[in-house]
Amino acid sequence: MEFRHKDLLGIADLEPEEIRLILDTAASFKEISVRPIKKVPTLRGKMMMTVFYEPSTRTRTSFEIAAKRLSADTQSLTVAASSVTKGETLADTAHNLEAMKPDVLVIRHPASGAPHFLAQRLKCGVINAGDGLHEHPTQALLDLLTVQEAKGRLDGLKIAIIGDIAHSRVARSNIYGFTKMGSQVTVAGPATLLPPYLETLGATVTTSLLEAVTGADVIIMLRLQLERMGQGFISTLREYRDYFGLAPRHLHLAKDDVIIMHPGPLNRGVEISPEVADGPNSLILEQVTNGVAVRMAVLYFLIGGEKG
Ligand code: NCD
Repeated sequence: MEFRHKDLLGIADLEPEEIRLILDTAASFKEISVRPIKKVPTLRGKMMMTVFYEPSTRTRTSFEIAAKRLSADTQSLTVAASSVTKGETLADTAHNLEAMKPDVLVIRHPASGAPHFLAQRLKCGVINAGDGLHEHPTQALLDLLTVQEAKGRLDGLKIAIIGDIAHSRVARSNIYGFTKMGSQVTVAGPATLLPPYLETLGATVTTSLLEAVTGADVIIMLRLQLERMGQGFISTLREYRDYFGLAPRHLHLAKDDVIIMHPGPLNRGVEISPEVADGPNSLILEQVTNGVAVRMAVLYFLIGGEKG
C-alpha cells in the first residue's frame, strides 16, 4: 500500500487502507517521542511552513514538534504580523512563501476550501490544518489513533459526537473517518446546530444527548464555535450546558469502558464538566500526545520516503 497524494486536504479523500497506513505508521513513530534523544533523521533537509490565519494551541505546536522529531526544518508565518494585514491575497501570500522552497505548507484558514484552492496552485504539498467549518483531517486521524489504542479496533463501535456540529470541522472529519473505518456515528446537538445533510454522510442524528450517549463506546464533545456563529443558535449558555453538557451522571448510560474525548480548547463547565474532563474515562491529553505522532506520519508520507 502506497500513499499517493500530494496534499492532505480532507478525510473524505482517503481510502480506509490509507487511513490504516497512516495510523500504523503513527503508532510506530510514538516511541521516538519517549526516547532520550527525541529525533530521527528521516526528513533532514526538508522544510515545513505553517501558515495559520486562525488561533491554534495544539495543532500548530504539534505540527512543529512532529517536523522537528523527524529533523525537518520549520518556519511559521504569524499572519497577524504579516503583510496579510496590508491587503495581500491568500494566493499571493502562498506563492511568495512557495518561492522560498518549502516542501509542505500547513494551512489553517477561516474559509472552507482555502487549502484546496492553494493545493491546485502550488507545487509543494498542502496540509489542511482546519478550513472554516469544513474539515480538520489530522484531528480526525489523531482521534482514530486514540480510539484504536483504547479499544483495539475501529470497527463496530458506537461513537457519539455531541455539540456544535454545524460549525465543527472536527465533527465532519470524524464522521468521515469513523464511518469509513466501520464504526457507527451518532451526532447530537440542538436542532439549530445540526445541518440537514448529516444523514447523507452516514451519521445518525438526534437532538438528545441522552440518546446519543446510551450504549456509546466513545463520546466526543465539541466546543460551541461562537466565533463562527451569529445570534440565535442557542438561548443561553446555561441552558446549553443543562441539555448538551456532559456530566458524570451521563456516563452510566454509556458502556462501562466508555472513553471521553475532546479536540480542545475546552470550555469547562459548558460542553463538559471538569469532573468528566479530568476523570478516569478521559483521554483528552492522550489525544494531544497522539497528535504529534499522527502529524509525523502525515509529514513522512507527504514529503519523505521515495517522494523525497
Ligand atoms: C479544533 C479546531 O480548531 O477546529 N481545535 C483543534 O484543532 N484542536 C476545535 C475547536 O476549535 O473547537
